[in-house]
Amino acid sequence: MKGLIFIFAVLLQLYAGSAVELDAMYSDSTKCKACHHYIIEQWESSWHAKSHYKNDEYFRKTVDYIGRKSRRSTNAIQVGCASCHNPRIAVTETDIDYEIMVAMKLDEHSEVNKALQNDLLSEGINCVVCHNIDKIHADLDGSKRGVHRVSWMKSGTMVGPLEDAFSPYHKVQKRDFFNEEADTLCFVCHANDRSEEGIVFTNMESEYRKGEKMCVDCHMSPRHEGIASTLRINDGKQRTRLVRDHLFAGGHVSSMWNGALDLEAKSQGDGLVVTLINPQPHNIPSGFGARELILEVEYLNGSEAMGRHSMSLTRTYTSKRGKPTIPHLAKEMGPDMSVPAHGKKSVKFPLAKGADAASITLYYRLVNDEVRGMLELQEPIWSEKMLVNSLVQKL
Ligand code: HEC
Ligand code: HEC
Ligand code: HEC
Ligand code: HEC
Ligand code: HEC
Repeated sequence: MKGLIFIFAVLLQLYAGSAVELDAMYSDSTKCKACHHYIIEQWESSWHAKSHYKNDEYFRKTVDYIGRKSRRSTNAIQVGCASCHNPRIAVTETDIDYEIMVAMKLDEHSEVNKALQNDLLSEGINCVVCHNIDKIHADLDGSKRGVHRVSWMKSGTMVGPLEDAFSPYHKVQKRDFFNEEADTLCFVCHANDRSEEGIVFTNMESEYRKGEKMCVDCHMSPRHEGIASTLRINDGKQRTRLVRDHLFAGGHVSSMWNGALDLEAKSQGDGLVVTLINPQPHNIPSGFGARELILEVEYLNGSEAMGRHSMSLTRTYTSKRGKPTIPHLAKEMGPDMSVPAHGKKSVKFPLAKGADAASITLYYRLVNDEVRGMLELQEPIWSEKMLVNSLVQKL
């Protein structure tokens, strides 16, 4: 038994990784509410706030599915995912010894289990993830992401975009990755997501075609006049500044999809060629692996329906046993069906005889049928078809 306790103690040290403990004064968003409540309300509406096993059904069922298929403990899997999904976790790595402890049912009081049960993690990507990063090591090899790509600030200093901020509650420091280099902050996690078999199934950084706008212009808001804090620090008045909204709105927000891609169509021989045009600086779909575009074509003669076609543009994944699987277990991927950044993609439908017009509608869905079925996702958001664009083309 003594031997075991000794091994246990050594393991605890190994697990310590690069985590920096957070002082209770700054540990979660409730501590910021007195002076930044409107920012917290915006952030709470985002999926950054839902990034946790408890709060995102898709994430939870993916972790459980990987656990079942790979026979690893779901705790060890969660520690790996936490590097981007819950980066303030107190342990950053587990190894085979932890699996042995799980198998022997000795893991209950381990640092790994304690770290995962910490309530603060349920806030996902919260204020003290982004605003406590001291340095981003963008020169590291592409596989090092999330917690493995940053060094943390001492707890109690908030980094941000402002040159001349003063706060009585915390120290402040300016960093360029909140200003002209803001894309680097997003690429800490929004890049190079890979499967257990080492397949990179999404890489926003390599597909990115940088233009005038940065990620924050479209997914937070343009800079506008507002306040950074409600505290009356300016001769008894609140100080106005140029700020952005903390919305981080993306694929889960149907209004964001309105007009995200443009449509063109023309008849060519015996077919109707539909072209999807992407004005955005990254591919669409992108980000996560099983997203989907759905194109529907209905042929008409006057008001009479002449037949329908539907096409799914998504990616498929195969496991090491050659069976359909989820992105995180992929050994191989099907062709990339996304519309490239600042690019186009054309597809062809058979023409209906006698039709004088085609009504074309483009939708987006967060999870394709195959993966939604495998994971048995229940919440309506995963199957909702969000309207992207539509067009009626005379033939
Ligand atoms: C995903 C990263 C991220 C998270 C999470 C985040 N912020 Fe920010 N925050 C930013 C960026 C980027 C800016 C710079 C916006 C700009 O250009 O003005 C910013 C700016 C700010 C500013 C300065 C005002 C402004 O808009 O420029 C304050 C204050 C702030 N954040 C507080 C918070 C608080 C409080 C939370 C938690 C609810 C939070 N942030 C969560 C990325 C983040
Ligand atoms: C007692 C009030 C108060 C509390 C509580 C508070 N802050 Fe602040 N914070 C301020 C003030 C005041 C400023 C400066 C605003 C300005 O200069 O316009 C500020 C500025 C900031 C900035 C911008 C720094 C920069 O250089 O751009 C960030 C980021 C920030 N706070 C994050 C947080 C976070 C995260 C918490 C919770 C852990 C928090 N604050 C709690 C008052 C507070
Ligand atoms: C610490 C890692 C991390 C950083 C840094 C980060 N994100 Fe995220 N982001 C995530 C994760 C993980 C999710 C998915 C959460 C979920 O759905 O459970 C996400 C989700 C999003 C979404 C929602 C996507 C959708 O399909 O709805 C947007 C938009 C987004 N992030 C934008 C940004 C922007 C802009 C920045 C830079 C200012 C940024 N993120 C920085 C990890 C991060
Ligand atoms: C010119 C505006 C613009 C810029 C810049 C931009 N995006 Fe997007 N992004 C969009 C639009 C439009 C969509 C589709 C609607 C939506 O999901 O918001 C989108 C979708 C997304 C999605 C969901 C993709 C999917 O297929 O589910 C993520 C994640 C995302 N963006 C992250 C980022 C990150 C990270 C950056 C910076 C590297 C960035 N975006 C830069 C406009 C932009
Ligand atoms: C390299 C950083 C990184 C790692 C590691 C990572 N993720 Fe993610 N994950 C992201 C980002 C960024 C997004 C948001 C992309 C988007 O919405 O398009 C995301 C989105 C997701 C989504 C979609 C959530 C939603 O609400 O639509 C699932 C599911 C997911 N991740 C599962 C996992 C699992 C399970 C693991 C661990 C085995 C993991 N991820 C590891 C960065 C990461």
